[in-house]
Amino acid sequence: MEGPGFVIGNIAKGKDLWDRHEEIKSIWRALEKSSVLLKAPRRFGKSSIMYHLYENPQPDCTVFFHDTEGMKSPEDFITGIMANALVDSRFKKFLKSTVKWGKNIFKLVEEVDVAEVRIKIRDGIKDNWQEKGLELISTLREFDRRIIFILDELPMLVQNIEKKHNPQTAFDFLHWFRSVRQMPDMEKIRWIVGGSIGIEHILERIKAGTKTINDFHILSVGAFSIEDGTAYVKALLKNEGQLARIQPAIIEKILDIVGAPVPYFLQILVYESLNEMRLKQRTLNKEIIERAYFEKVLGPASRTYFEHYFTRLKDYYDEHCEHVAKRLILEVARKGKVDKNHLFKLFRQTCKGKLTDEIFSHLMTDIENDFYVSYSVNTKTYSFTTNVLREWWLRYYDLVEE
Ligand SMILES: Nc1ncnc2c1ncn2[C@@H]1O[C@H](COP(=O)(O)OP(=O)(O)OP(=O)(O)O)[C@@H](O)[C@H]1O
Ligand SMILES: [Mg+2]
Repeated sequence: MEGPGFVIGNIAKGKDLWDRHEEIKSIWRALEKSSVLLKAPRRFGKSSIMYHLYENPQPDCTVFFHDTEGMKSPEDFITGIMANALVDSRFKKFLKSTVKWGKNIFKLVEEVDVAEVRIKIRDGIKDNWQEKGLELISTLREFDRRIIFILDELPMLVQNIEKKHNPQTAFDFLHWFRSVRQMPDMEKIRWIVGGSIGIEHILERIKAGTKTINDFHILSVGAFSIEDGTAYVKALLKNEGQLARIQPAIIEKILDIVGAPVPYFLQILVYESLNEMRLKQRTLNKEIIERAYFEKVLGPASRTYFEHYFTRLKDYYDEHCEHVAKRLILEVARKGKVDKNHLFKLFRQTCKGKLTDEIFSHLMTDIENDFYVSYSVNTKTYSFTTNVLREWWLRYYDLVEE
């Protein structure tokens, strides 16, 4: 049987998507009652799970997948949702017969291309996107199937609206989007949203508060279990390395180096180890894996694997706040495990009175979301979940000014 292959950076589809059965089951279950917000740090596999739901819908569901990253206004959002739906023939038929004010628009679908329909929709909502958009989306209630809209990158959309327009429009959009979900008789329509930036950060910035998203059922996507991680590494080595026999010690070594079995990091290490093995024309052993890790995975040529984690800090914060965040991450990387109180003291010391105390908890939430730093409630300490990012940080970012 063909096994999984490398898909480093792209959405893992089909045979390349390993496991995640439990998460997928939980999402379908949750969708019966409410919309779903998928939460996980960067590169854990949110988009891959969402794409699987899109490609394998339940029989009574029509699922649409939207990457909202390119949308920059509420009008873009409404237009994108409605126009893309027209790709589905059942939907096309339905829209043409039902939508009142849009009847003329959707009548055109057969004759003109979708691009023109987009322009018409945009034109139709431009004077009052809130009201017209609500009206347009509410017509979907009449559709005879369940509809699931998947919005990958919702936080990015809100951020784009904030940047292109202003915080108020972003705020209005979130309230409006909530009212769409809360409209009576809308049980048939559900939303699955996710994103690579922590939504809390954006909500805080536009002063929207979590009330705007508190109707979502939140599901966290974690790393693989040790068993699934082990089986995954084995399957990758077999399929990509054509290795007939794989010693358990080899798999253990890979898992040991990576830390929490996040598929992205497992793939990178297996990929670099197999390259190293071929280069040396040897069989795979622990030394080769170690060399691949220290020289290749953490080597300068691999910056692209991780750079996006760090550029994020610039997008999030002004210069001062970015500096403070970097200093806090560095402390966790250096110490391995850091007491919350110690970090708070360091925060006060580094920000020199320029930031209020409550910024600390926002910063730590963002750092947890993005940098695989986890908080242990029992010991009140922070530590890196995966070794890779910790060692990466220590190697390249150990020079933050005190
Ligand atoms: N179930 C999986 N099986 C195999 N590989 C996976 C799986 N999930 C994620 N990956 C790997 O991790 C990478 C990131 O996955 P994906 O893009 O789905 O994550 P994400 O959480 O959406 O990331 P981001 O936060 O950057 O948007 C993929 O390119 C793939 O290499
Ligand atoms: Mg993604």
